[in-house]
Amino acid sequence: MRAQHPDHVEEAGGHTGARYIPGFGNHVSTEAVRDALPVGRNSPQRVPFGLYAEQLSGSAFTAPRAENRRSWLYRLRPTAQHPAFTRYYGAPRLASAPFAAAPDPNRLRWDPLPWPDTPTDWIDSLVSYGGTGNVADQVGVGIHCYAANMDMQRAFFSADGELLIVPQEGALLIDTELGRLEVAPLQIALIPRGVRFRVMLQDGRARGYVCENYGALFRLPDLGPIGANGLANSRDFEAPVAWFEDDAEPCTVIQKFQGGLWETTLDHSPFDVVAWHGNLAPYRYDLKRFNTINTVSFDHPDPSIFTVLTSPSDTPGTANCDFVIFPPRWMVAEQTFRPPWFHRNVMSEFMGLIAGQYDAKEGGGFVPGGASLHNQMNGHGPDKATYDRAVAADLVPHRIDDTMAFMFETRHVIRLAECGVEGPARQLDYDDVWSDFAKAEIAR
Ligand SMILES: [Fe+2]
Repeated sequence: MRAQHPDHVEEAGGHTGARYIPGFGNHVSTEAVRDALPVGRNSPQRVPFGLYAEQLSGSAFTAPRAENRRSWLYRLRPTAQHPAFTRYYGAPRLASAPFAAAPDPNRLRWDPLPWPDTPTDWIDSLVSYGGTGNVADQVGVGIHCYAANMDMQRAFFSADGELLIVPQEGALLIDTELGRLEVAPLQIALIPRGVRFRVMLQDGRARGYVCENYGALFRLPDLGPIGANGLANSRDFEAPVAWFEDDAEPCTVIQKFQGGLWETTLDHSPFDVVAWHGNLAPYRYDLKRFNTINTVSFDHPDPSIFTVLTSPSDTPGTANCDFVIFPPRWMVAEQTFRPPWFHRNVMSEFMGLIAGQYDAKEGGGFVPGGASLHNQMNGHGPDKATYDRAVAADLVPHRIDDTMAFMFETRHVIRLAECGVEGPARQLDYDDVWSDFAKAEIAR
């Protein structure tokens, strides 16, 4: 039985409470034991209760103040107290960019990841579909899916990037060094690079998507003429409050380091942070709180209007990765083809479906838990069923309900991992959704 020390901070929601604003570097202070958090010193000569002070940096020390992220952790033992890591050969389908397969220009689509036949925890269930950039250069993303049916009895961290977790089925309880996050489908979680965590399955099994961001940290996008409010509002991002285990049972810790996996076994729980403060933290966000903005006249704004979080690149306005959602919303555009239009982009798009139906694929084939990839400059858009309905529709206002699709959109072409190319869930007939459009006839 683990000795768990719940939060004493009186906040709504139990495990979470502090507001954490991605990209704004606001400061969170939390303690699981009263007076455990040092006052006035980050690293006092003697930390209360004999705790060990440890700084966790998410940016270079000298990053500009607006970009600088770090938190101070006060824990039962220093993280440094561990045996050597040795190679770990589980999670056989988890990989990192650069992926070896030649870039594929084809439109690709996958059925949902099958459930495992044997007990498989979150880390071992991860399947890499592809990614961009190069983990060694801290540029790009890895795109993974998970389908797990067993709680993690060990801890994991990625030294390669922050992890944006998008549950599709099954709620998760994610224990992190900085506290606990309950994350259900239609919510997202972000675990910073290097933060150790474990994933418990609240519904017996869980499936979803992960964006492992090697690049600049995700943050809220600028709003420009939208103004001070709208899209994902900063007040809705929640950090956990401090929580810890005082536990002498052995615990295996796995790390992902430059694409390889390594493990060590501690003689104690790694979740022993009694108090912390700083501006680098895990957080969760409820996608249902997204303030969706769209046209009230005609045409569509570009889908960037649905950006929740963005990881910028060195080129302004050209993201290393945008996390974009397509939520329930009213459709009112006049004299307009209302579904997503046909398009070709310089940006590349990996899409997933959390719930319901996506409004460009009414003909089927893109189902919750599935995925699609539309790489740079390759045409795509509505399927035939969607097109036929849209051009015949009576354009009264109507609401799209029961839908939540998302996109990881990136400036770099998404190269496929081995499982993305050969995985059993890949559909081989995706091109057919655009094969039946009749030629337009010009009357002469
Ligand atoms: Fe697209």
